[in-house]
Amino acid sequence: MPIVETVGVTRVFGTDGVVTALDDVSISVSGGEFVAIQGPSGCGKSTLLHLLGGLDMPTAGTVRFGGVDLAALTDNERTRLRRRSIGIVLPIVELVPTLTTWENVAISLLLDGRAMAEGRARATELLDAVRLSDRTHTVASRLSTGEAQRVAVARALYNEPELLLADEPTSFLDSVRSDEIVGLLRTLANDGRTIVMATHDARAAAFADRSIRLLDGHVVQDVC
Ligand SMILES: Nc1ncnc2c1ncn2[C@@H]1O[C@H](COP(=O)(O)OP(=O)(O)OP(=O)(O)O)[C@@H](O)[C@H]1O
Ligand SMILES: [Mg+2]
Repeated sequence: MPIVETVGVTRVFGTDGVVTALDDVSISVSGGEFVAIQGPSGCGKSTLLHLLGGLDMPTAGTVRFGGVDLAALTDNERTRLRRRSIGIVLPIVELVPTLTTWENVAISLLLDGRAMAEGRARATELLDAVRLSDRTHTVASRLSTGEAQRVAVARALYNEPELLLADEPTSFLDSVRSDEIVGLLRTLANDGRTIVMATHDARAAAFADRSIRLLDGHVVQDVC
């Protein structure tokens, strides 16, 4: 069974139906796959990622996560599913500038009202995985853009999500930092993590196992 799939998904924005961001899109992502969603600006990459992550709902068609139709869930159930099963890295990383790196990684504990101390060991382990052990106690405002991006990946992995979604994780990075972050995603994929990454960057997409190309809201290519 796929981890996540869309069946005939359409997403129209605007009350007059002015922008069709996605038109009849059917894709399926299996466990352990590293998929790149490619295409020019405005083709619908972020819209598709948001639908896969249950952050947005389609105008028509079905999105299933682990076989469950997301439209059949209440808002609360969808939020719970997202927090438990889906890690999301957005293009602009928002860390709490006054908290340290490990505190930012373990931030979901704060949101759950649990003690931060509980999360220290796990955060330390994740910072090691993203090769930021030497920044564990650095306040986030002192991190470089590339480091902040890696903290965001560690944070997205905190709850051991079944699916990691990354929207343009390299957009503000030079090619060396960019290769570092996508190389990190590649390593996670080699360890069995399921990843869907939206990117306009062919160099980043080359790290993935499969590329789905969108144009004007349509899938025009889906190759391994
Ligand atoms: N909330 C929204 N309201 C209205 N239109 C939207 C909204 N979100 C996206 N769109 C429109 O839908 C289309 C697809 O947008 P989307 O953000 O998915 O593209 P993208 O491929 O991620 O682009 P980029 O590479 O610039 O990030 C665009 O025409 C965009 O203007
Ligand atoms: Mg986008």
